[in-house]
Amino acid sequence: MIESYDVGGVELERPFKARRLNHVVWYYRDFNATLRFYQGLLGLKLMDCIDSKNGPPAMCPFLPTPFFFMTMGPDMHNLAFVPETVKQTFDGRHDDTTINHYAWDVGSYEELRGSLRYFREKQVEIQEVALRMPGSNYAVYYYDPESNMQHTQSSGEVIGWQGTSKPLAAWKVMKWVRGPNGELDEAIPSDEDLTSQALLTLEGARKDTGDHSLNPYRDLLVDIKKELEQNRFNVHGSFLPRPFKLTKLTYLAIQSEDPEALAAFYTRINGFKISAKTKDAIYLRYGADHHGLVIYSPESPDVINKKDKLVRTGIQLRTYQELKSALVYLRDNGVEILGKGRSFPGGEYFVDIMDPEKRQVRLFFYLEQVGWDGTTRSPDRWKPLESLPEKAEVSEDTYNFEHLSAYSF
Ligand SMILES: [Fe+2]
Repeated sequence: MIESYDVGGVELERPFKARRLNHVVWYYRDFNATLRFYQGLLGLKLMDCIDSKNGPPAMCPFLPTPFFFMTMGPDMHNLAFVPETVKQTFDGRHDDTTINHYAWDVGSYEELRGSLRYFREKQVEIQEVALRMPGSNYAVYYYDPESNMQHTQSSGEVIGWQGTSKPLAAWKVMKWVRGPNGELDEAIPSDEDLTSQALLTLEGARKDTGDHSLNPYRDLLVDIKKELEQNRFNVHGSFLPRPFKLTKLTYLAIQSEDPEALAAFYTRINGFKISAKTKDAIYLRYGADHHGLVIYSPESPDVINKKDKLVRTGIQLRTYQELKSALVYLRDNGVEILGKGRSFPGGEYFVDIMDPEKRQVRLFFYLEQVGWDGTTRSPDRWKPLESLPEKAEVSEDTYNFEHLSAYSF
C-alpha cells in the first residue's frame, strides 16, 4: 500500500512538497575575490555577514572571514559562502566537496515539520534542526547517502524596499540550532510579530536598529562599486550596472560514483521526478523546471573537476539577449569562459564560466517546462549546439518561468 499524507487538503505520498531550490552554500578561501566576482561582476547583492563578532560562540572560532549571504532578488540569500575552515566541523565528510549545503523551499511550516517526521521515519540522517538563522528560516538539515548536506525550509526572510536585511537587534531573538534530535515547535509566530516585538522590547534595541551585520564591510562594497559598478547599460529599457540581470537560482549538478542509487534517494525521500537519463547523467525535477538537480557519473566530460562533488550551478537570466551580452561583458572583464551553446536534455542556452575558486557556474536562458501530465521532450528532439545562434528558438514554454524585474531588491 502506498502511504499518503494530507498536505493542505491534498493527499500526497509524503507530508511535504519541495517547491523551489532556494539557496546553495559553498565553501570559499578568498573573501575579497569571491565577493568581487559575485557582487561586482554577476550583480548579486551582499545581505548579511556572520563573523567572529556576531556569530554563535560555537561557530566563531571557524570564521577567520565571514560566512556571507548574497541574493539576486527578494530572498535574503540565494548563494551563501562559508570559509573553508568550517569543513573541520564535518569530520571529513566534506573533504571532497565545495558544497556546504543546498536548500529546498517547502510550502509551509507544517510541511517542514512533516519533512522532519518523514525523514526520521525513513531513517534519513538528520544533521540539525534549526530555528531562525539569519534569513529567518526554520530548517531541517539532512544528509543524502553520500554526505551531501541539504535542508528543507520555510519562512525565509524577504527583502523589502529598503534593500537591506534585518538589523542586528533582530538577531537577538534567533535561536540558531537544536541539534539532530531537536524538535520543531507545533506552531510559530510570524516573522513580523517576532521581529517587531524584539525591536520594541529589548533594552536599547531601538537605537541598535542601525547596527547591521554589514557595517564592517561597507568600505569593501564601496570599492567594488567604484571598480565595477560605475557604468550604465541600457538593458531592455532599464539602466543597469551590467548588461544582464540574474533572475533565478535554478539547479545544481553534482557527481556520484553511483548516480542510480543516489537518484533513488532523491525520488524516494525528496519526492523528485526523473525528467531524463543519458549515458552519464540523471536529470531530476522538483517542479516545472526540467531539472532542479542533475547527478553525473564521474566519467562525464561535464565533470571537469573530478575531486569536487559539485559539478556546476545553473542560474537563469531574463532574456536570451542578456545571455549573449553577459558572454561579451564577462569575457571583457577577464572571466574564464568554459563553454557556450545549447544543451539537452532541458534545452538551455548557456555560457559556462569559472569563478575565482574554480567552480563552474552556468548562466543560461530557457529551460524546458514540464506540464500537468509530466511528459518531457523526447530524445529525437534534443538538438544541442556548440555556439550561441543569433536568435533563440521559440517554443510553447518560452518565457514560462519565474521572472524578477530589473530592480527587485
Ligand atoms: Fe541554508
